[in-house]
Amino acid sequence: MQLIHTIDDLRQWRKTVGRVAFVPTMGNLHEGHLALVQAAKQAADKVVVSIFVNRLQFGQGEDFDQYPRTLQEDASKLSHAGVAVLFAPDERELYPHVSQDYNVMPPHLQNELCGRFRPGHFRGVATVVTKLFNIVAPDVACFGKKDYQQLTIIRGMVADLNANIEILPVDTGRAPDGMALSSRNAYLTAAQRAQGPQLYAALSQVAKGIVAGNGDYAELERAAIDALQRQGWVVDYIEVRHADTLAVAHVAIATWWYWVQHVWAIPD
Ligand code: PAF
Repeated sequence: MQLIHTIDDLRQWRKTVGRVAFVPTMGNLHEGHLALVQAAKQAADKVVVSIFVNRLQFGQGEDFDQYPRTLQEDASKLSHAGVAVLFAPDERELYPHVSQDYNVMPPHLQNELCGRFRPGHFRGVATVVTKLFNIVAPDVACFGKKDYQQLTIIRGMVADLNANIEILPVDTGRAPDGMALSSRNAYLTAAQRAQGPQLYAALSQVAKGIVAGNGDYAELERAAIDALQRQGWVVDYIEVRHADTLAVAHVAIATWWYWVQHVWAIPD
């Protein structure tokens, strides 16, 4: 595996190879990241992984300084996983002017769901991902479903801006007790970690309710929030959204329309 730190060197290497799959990360790699790498290996001959802790996507008071930086260990894992290139630029390489004058501004979705609690986060993500796409010029890029809002925003960005990149969503890696794998799990105390699977259980209940045909999403959301609050959680949000767009889901209206059409026999 080659370790590349500069944009010029990466571009030189890129000219020498054909189809490339790309996995952007912020490092501190775990099994979830390695599952992204495996998916990338299925999609192209050469895999590029980037490691860059992107200041632009961290809000004030968030964990930019604390974020675990483990380049040596990460490089060894990626090398064993058969990655062709690890691209690890420093901040000056990606943001030579300190601030970034041109930014990629995602649509209103950036201010919803997680965006309500992390102003500017998705602008930072969309901006750095665009820069990395322009540098790596991948044919395919892999994103985990764990960060589903990020995946949806990147998918929309690539489609709307006609980037010639296939976005490959990869299932969330989970610990045996259901907890999603994340570098930030390291911040949890033993007691918090033990409570983690309760979130997965609450979300799974919502999913079961939908699959069973319950179209009262507000009720499903409320039940999940209540269950978590009873166990001591402070819940930011639980919302049922459309899986492709993350638009607010409106089965209740669809059900109502079905009822109007079929019970009152209004023609299509
Ligand atoms: O998901 C992440 O690790 C980051 O948001 C990403 C996509 C690497 C952009 O910094």
